[in-house]
Amino acid sequence: MPNPLAPDWLQEPEDANALAPGVWSRHAVRLPGGELAIGGVPASRLAAEHGTPLYVVDEADVRARAAAAKAAFDEAMRAIGTSARVYYAGKAFLCTEVVRWVDEAGLGIDVASEGELAVALAGGIDAGRIGVHGNNKSPRTIERAVEAGVGAIVIDSAIEVERVAAAATRARRTQPVRLRINSGVHASTHEYLATAHEDQKFGVTAADAPGIVAAIRSLPALEFLGLHSHIGSQIFETEGFAEAARRLLALHALLLETGPVPQLNLGGGFGIAYTSADDPMPIAEIARGMAEALAVAAADLGIGVPAIAVEPGRSIVGPGGTTLYTVGTVKPVAVGDAVRKYVSVDGGMSDNIRPALYHAAYSARIASRVSADRPALARVAGMHCESGDIVVRDEYLPMDVGPGDLLAVPATGAYGWAMASNYNWVPRPPVVAVRDGESRLIVRGETIEDLLDRDPGNPVPERAERAEG
Ligand code: LLP
Repeated sequence: MPNPLAPDWLQEPEDANALAPGVWSRHAVRLPGGELAIGGVPASRLAAEHGTPLYVVDEADVRARAAAAKAAFDEAMRAIGTSARVYYAGKAFLCTEVVRWVDEAGLGIDVASEGELAVALAGGIDAGRIGVHGNNKSPRTIERAVEAGVGAIVIDSAIEVERVAAAATRARRTQPVRLRINSGVHASTHEYLATAHEDQKFGVTAADAPGIVAAIRSLPALEFLGLHSHIGSQIFETEGFAEAARRLLALHALLLETGPVPQLNLGGGFGIAYTSADDPMPIAEIARGMAEALAVAAADLGIGVPAIAVEPGRSIVGPGGTTLYTVGTVKPVAVGDAVRKYVSVDGGMSDNIRPALYHAAYSARIASRVSADRPALARVAGMHCESGDIVVRDEYLPMDVGPGDLLAVPATGAYGWAMASNYNWVPRPPVVAVRDGESRLIVRGETIEDLLDRDPGNPVPERAERAEG
């Protein structure tokens, strides 16, 4: 009988060792002895070499998704007589190695801060393939972006027009810009909402856009590329994108009456599977759905379809990431007549804030072995000092899960490391890339010494020496 504490979407599995298809990275398998291996590297070896918690990235999975996104949008947009640019949204997870992977796959990169810009440039991507976002870009971010020669800055408010123009004038450059529109379309997961006006901080209204675009066009330091919209994240239906495309194209057509508008950027937000209950659409289908909506809307408006840009983040790096933890304590907690097993691991909300922040669902499996024991309803908790510190809220794990077991949580590649913190003075874990039986460090983990070193009151001997010397 299923545990009454289990949510409706969670089925009791026949086998609590099985890796649900679509949830795990492409090169995650059970070895003949039962242990999990990712990219040909056994979990026990990863843990022995790098410790836990550990972020593991299946390099070939990420590269393949980047290439598939590019191919899907190229093909879908070519079919309606236009072209596509795919920018990887670096906020999902960025380090120089990932910059190289997506660069080699032919994607651009979208950055949202001075730090992300610095990493993208350090990774060697051509600045012309970088887009810069943000509702409050610092003066330095704007200056560095313009000086580097980024391909697009997405203007988010009227105030920014002058700021970007001034930086471009100083740098003696013409800076290409987009204008972000608050489309009134908001989508999240399985729902989308379209209103006259969405109550959020990003973008400008359709009513304000013509005046701002006129200001952009009047400034010789700026070149107007077109409109931008991003309607939300972890979206499973194309209808929200289609509605945004219709609204944006209508505004686009209006702006065409007064000057050129070569491109349209429809943002990211394509959903991925975190648990077996999620059924994301293949990227090729999303691209085709978007292209169809664009073609129909453009025909209705009597205009051509502009060059299209998109900015997926999660769908490129999310599925390829897995977090490895070590189980420390296990305890059954009775709730009425039912029991939930609390399985505590050596990480938690500092390496994955998403369950606490968004109530995001994840799944988990014992990585170091398989077990023939029956499935028990479990909750994987972290080691932090608050009860909301949950890693996996609801999952069936073998009844004998216990101290010393390695536990793997799939689909943590996006917004895991990127949103990690030092809560409770916990050092952020390293990230390793695995491929063809090898693992290599792509982001070094922090140590407690690293953290202490940032506290000027700490009498670290080396710092005392530096101060004296
Ligand atoms: N473009 C823009 C302008 C964005 O703001 C975002 C995400 C993306 C693209 C990429 O969206 P994606 O394809 O990754 O869904 N931290 C949250 C999600 C917030 C995303 C913010 N913007 C999470 O952990 O789910």
